Amino acid sequence: MSKQIVVSGIRATGELHIGNYFGAMRNFVELQDEFNCFFFIADYHSLTTEENAEALKTFLLPIVKNYLAVGLDPAKCTLFAQSSVPEVAELALLLSMVHPKNELEGLPTWKEKEISQATGGKIVSAGLFFYPILMAADILIQKATVVPVGKDQLPHLEFTRDIARRFNNRYGQTFPVCGAHGGIGIKVPGLNGTGKMGKSEGNTIDLVETPESVAKKLSVAVTDTNRKRRQDPGDPRACNIFALHELISPPTTVEEIRAGCQAATIGCVDCKRILGGNINKLLAPFQERYRQISDDLARQVLIDGGNRARKTARQTVDEVRDKMGLPSFKIG
Ligand code: TRP
Ligand code: SF4
Repeated sequence: MSKQIVVSGIRATGELHIGNYFGAMRNFVELQDEFNCFFFIADYHSLTTEENAEALKTFLLPIVKNYLAVGLDPAKCTLFAQSSVPEVAELALLLSMVHPKNELEGLPTWKEKEISQATGGKIVSAGLFFYPILMAADILIQKATVVPVGKDQLPHLEFTRDIARRFNNRYGQTFPVCGAHGGIGIKVPGLNGTGKMGKSEGNTIDLVETPESVAKKLSVAVTDTNRKRRQDPGDPRACNIFALHELISPPTTVEEIRAGCQAATIGCVDCKRILGGNINKLLAPFQERYRQISDDLARQVLIDGGNRARKTARQTVDEVRDKMGLPSFKIG
């Protein structure tokens, strides 16, 4: 039996951090052994909110390097830039013909983004409104059945299933109906004590962070805010530093920290120092590999991946054009 097809888009316009690592990257690396995976940098999608062309250009290769350094292997998976497969834009247009507009308007993700763009004084583009259709096209163009995404993206997945069903009903069985893949979207807390680690929050530890910088960031990170003095017992459950220990440190260390914090036998400075050491241990091999990946290599991976993804994409679009009644002759 042929392997199931996995598609996932990476929406990043900056340095990747340990939140990205535990939230998605680590899972991608596992999936590539088991499935036929298509992972892409969602640069078309980035244009829905990113106006800075230089920023988009500058970050493409570092993102690829980050993914290669954590272990994505171009021999096992197809890694490419979304915009190198322009067929996806054609499929999005074609799919838009089978979906009622008011259902797009009802998506919670649309409402949130519309508000955040508008309050930021930015244009709410038609492209932003079209976002879910383009995402459905990303998935359906490879006929994926497994889509690893975080919880926030589940409405888009439901939307994709819906559009696939509508297309199949109108034009005959064409697309499989995809499902989410669990294990993705582990929430990694930020260093400032609130919410999730995220680039826009400025509360990250990046994968390329040096040991000095890790120590510096941790030294000012928020802990259990009720633990005012060294002799006060702390509550690990109310502390992001502890949550990071749980993700990164060995289980015995986690238990020692838990007990030590509750009994006030360990102070926050030492607790952070231990965490910093473990973070550096996690990042060192990654950074070593990162340094060995040249811009040329990263570029070549994108070119090869784009070519591979484009082949299968073209086949799907030709099939869809034919089913919808568009001519299949080629010009030129
Ligand atoms: N919307 C996704 C996100 O913000 C990124 C994405 C774009 C995606 N196209 C996709 C994810 C296709 C999975 C499949 O995370
Ligand atoms: Fe948090 Fe560690 Fe301080 Fe406890 S000792 S409050 S877990 S930083």
